[in-house]
This record gives sequence, C-alpha cells and structure tokens, in this order.
Amino acid sequence: MNRTLPERIFICGFMGTGKTTVGQHLARQLHMEFYDLDQWIEEDEGRSIPVIFTEQGESAFRQIEKKALLQLIRTTQGVIALGGGSLHNQHLVDHVKVNGMLVFIETPLPLIIKRIKQSPDRPLLLNESGNIKSDKILKSDLQELYKMRYPLYEQAEVTVHAMEYDSLESLVTELVKKIRYHVALH
Ligand code: S3P
Repeated sequence: MNRTLPERIFICGFMGTGKTTVGQHLARQLHMEFYDLDQWIEEDEGRSIPVIFTEQGESAFRQIEKKALLQLIRTTQGVIALGGGSLHNQHLVDHVKVNGMLVFIETPLPLIIKRIKQSPDRPLLLNESGNIKSDKILKSDLQELYKMRYPLYEQAEVTVHAMEYDSLESLVTELVKKIRYHVALH
C-alpha cells in the first residue's frame, strides 16, 4: 500500500516547531505508524527528559538520545518525530537519510521563542539554578543554537515553511504533496 513511500519519514526542526503534532497528522494521512523520539526515550528510561538532564546532564542525554534513535531506526517503520537536538552531527544526519526521508519544519526563530517561553519544561531554556533564563540570554543562546543546527536541518529532502500555512491541515496537506513529489522524482 505504501510501496512508493519511504519506510521512515523523520521530522526535524527546532524546539517548538510542532514536530509531534505535524508528525501525528502526517502519519494518519499516510497510513503509517507514528513514533516520537522524546516519548520513546522517556518510556525506555522510565524518567522524563528534564529529570535526565538534571540527574546526568546534557551530554549523557545526547548519548541516550542517539542510542534511542538508532534503536528506533533498527526496530520500527513509520513517521518519527525527532527532538530539536537529535541531529547534532553530520553522521546522524547521514544515517537518518540512509534509512528514510528527512523532513524539516522551518519556523522563524522569533516565533519559536514566543512559543517555547509558554512551556518552559525544556531543560535548554533553564539556567543552572533551574529557573527560566532571562529574555536576553535566552534569545542569544537560542540564536546560537539555531545557527549551529540550521545547516543540519536544511539537508532535509523536504522542507515546509510553517509560516506559509494558516492551519495545521493545510501544512500537512502540502507536506504530503511535497513528499509524494519527491518520491516520484527519485
Ligand atoms: C531538545 C529538544 C527537546 C528535547 C530536549 C532537547 C533540544 O525536544 O529533546 O529537551 O536540544 O533542542 P523538542 O524539540 O520536541 O522540544
């Protein structure tokens, strides 16, 4: 049924771009299974991502995240929503692309900042005392992170610019079109 679609469609993009919501809708439209890497990690570890950061720090989280991603790739097929930092090096981007199609949801940074400030449960938004960073520091830290990650995200085979759509449905409809078009061409 899905013979023309890739076995896996990975959704990447910065925190707060709606990877999980878009991924769920996309999976439904394409009759594929849906997996969320952050959720997979939390279930596998039996603790939340903020707790992993607090107990072991970011670099241990990245190791756990990488192991979980490789395991997901080995054991599942479907739409996989990644975490904002899952593709933190070129090797991981290459590995993901060999095993499926990479989709990037591009959202302008000012909008991202506005959105994620409303749900400050993300460890990267917090300072060493566990409080939300000041606006100035948050903005400059996120700008820096975005600059580092953008060259990895933009290697996606398919990109959607979230700002161009006025509803989730229209974004997902366009995404399906772009994915099918890409498949037809390759
Ligand atoms: C992270 C993004 C989060 C989560 C973790 C680290 C990041 O996922 O994996 O807090 O490094 O950008 P979302 O992108 O789903 O928020």
